Amino acid sequence: MNGDSPPLAAALQVAATAWRRLREGASLDRALAAAIDGFAAATPTPLHPRLAAAAKDIAYTATRHLALIEALLGKLVHRAPDPTVSALLAVALGQLLAPRHESYAVVDQAVHAAKTQDETRAAAGFVNAVLRNALRRLPALRSELQRQPTVAFNSPRWWIDLLREAEPAHFARILQLQQQLPPLVLRVNRRHGSVEAYLRRLRGDGIEATRVGPDAVWLHAPLPVADIPGFGAGDVSVQDAGAQLAVQLLQVADGMRVLDACAAPGGKTVHLAEAADDLVMDVVEADRARAERIEENLRRTQARSHALIRLHVADAARPENYADGRYQRIVLDAPCTASGIVRRHPDIPWLRRPADVAQLATVQARLLDALWPLLEPAGRLLYVVCSVFAEEGPRQADAFAARHADARPLSLPGMQSGRLRLPPAHGGAWSEGLPSVHDGFFFAIYEKT
Ligand SMILES: C[S@@+](CC[C@H](N)C(=O)[O-])C[C@H]1O[C@@H](n2cnc3c(N)ncnc32)[C@H](O)[C@@H]1O
Repeated sequence: MNGDSPPLAAALQVAATAWRRLREGASLDRALAAAIDGFAAATPTPLHPRLAAAAKDIAYTATRHLALIEALLGKLVHRAPDPTVSALLAVALGQLLAPRHESYAVVDQAVHAAKTQDETRAAAGFVNAVLRNALRRLPALRSELQRQPTVAFNSPRWWIDLLREAEPAHFARILQLQQQLPPLVLRVNRRHGSVEAYLRRLRGDGIEATRVGPDAVWLHAPLPVADIPGFGAGDVSVQDAGAQLAVQLLQVADGMRVLDACAAPGGKTVHLAEAADDLVMDVVEADRARAERIEENLRRTQARSHALIRLHVADAARPENYADGRYQRIVLDAPCTASGIVRRHPDIPWLRRPADVAQLATVQARLLDALWPLLEPAGRLLYVVCSVFAEEGPRQADAFAARHADARPLSLPGMQSGRLRLPPAHGGAWSEGLPSVHDGFFFAIYEKT
């Protein structure tokens, strides 16, 4: 710890509150936001400006080791302690497993955090004893517990089984990759300059980066968006290189009428508007708060200066509430389990329930059927999900094709029968074809006959 770091005890305490909410079913980001608000309300002095970031790092680190931490607790603690004490132990164990601080400092600060709260004060000695015991036994216990698939892959059993079914040859590699830190990938706005020119600009600023797709640049070290050169001016946007494929596959031309059906936070909306002139776009998002983020992105990138964009807060499956006429291009970036982006959201496998997969597949089918009649003859519809499960990908596409005889799969380069399964990958530099560093997606594209 150095003088200007936030106090580790406070960060552990906030992360522990978030962990407890996560294990009660809240998403980690929501849980963290509530935990920091609660901590601020109970603290008379202003919070350290980087406390929230430090707590987020601790909570995310623990979530990336959730199964191991819970298995370790099972070995180290004979009777389940109070959930508040368990949560503090969990986030402290996360710090011991992925060392960010000296282990003696983690133990010391976790005990300090225990002493500062009414609910945990009496357990401070217990926290000390468990963490010291953990330090002694960690190497042996870790290698023993890693033999359990749920620990090795940090996912529930049903999740591993579904992935094995979808990707029998690659599931282990996908699950391992998904435990790593997510890459920060940018999309270069070609209206403002070339990828080569942007890479030169980064080099000039001493920022290491690699091209990983036609418009995609991976920054080797993460940066806050405010520090990304040209971000505020819309020269680049943050978007995974796999997600960037959507607009490349749609091939929009100047003046087309386009529907972006599930649009927030607007990554594809902005990309579409960058890809051609004078598009007429209906952009639909069901969640009002998330729709706000589309507006922010449109403002930052000045997308409305070269496209007519109408933003609707509506259910995309009820076109009578937003559509006036038919479209030449439709993109449906459907709600899904998000099983392809676990690197970014390590809480996902622990929040979903097995029944969610079928329920989401039903929502996706309903959206597809509602949107298909809105497509003009010879128009294209792209279905995309950031999922690697078969039910949301190939099986969804099979069922759609069986219901719609006028849907012709478009076999674009790199696709088979109009489909592309893109498991997450972290390769080297890109030269041509599919991107080399990306999250997991499924794409299907159809033309109306
Ligand atoms: C995968 S995200 C879309 C990401 C976005 N296309 C992008 O590239 O930034 C799915 C979005 O669909 C929205 N959504 C879910 N059901 C919807 C519905 N029936 N109609 C419209 N939007 C919906 C969700 O709120 C969420 O913002």
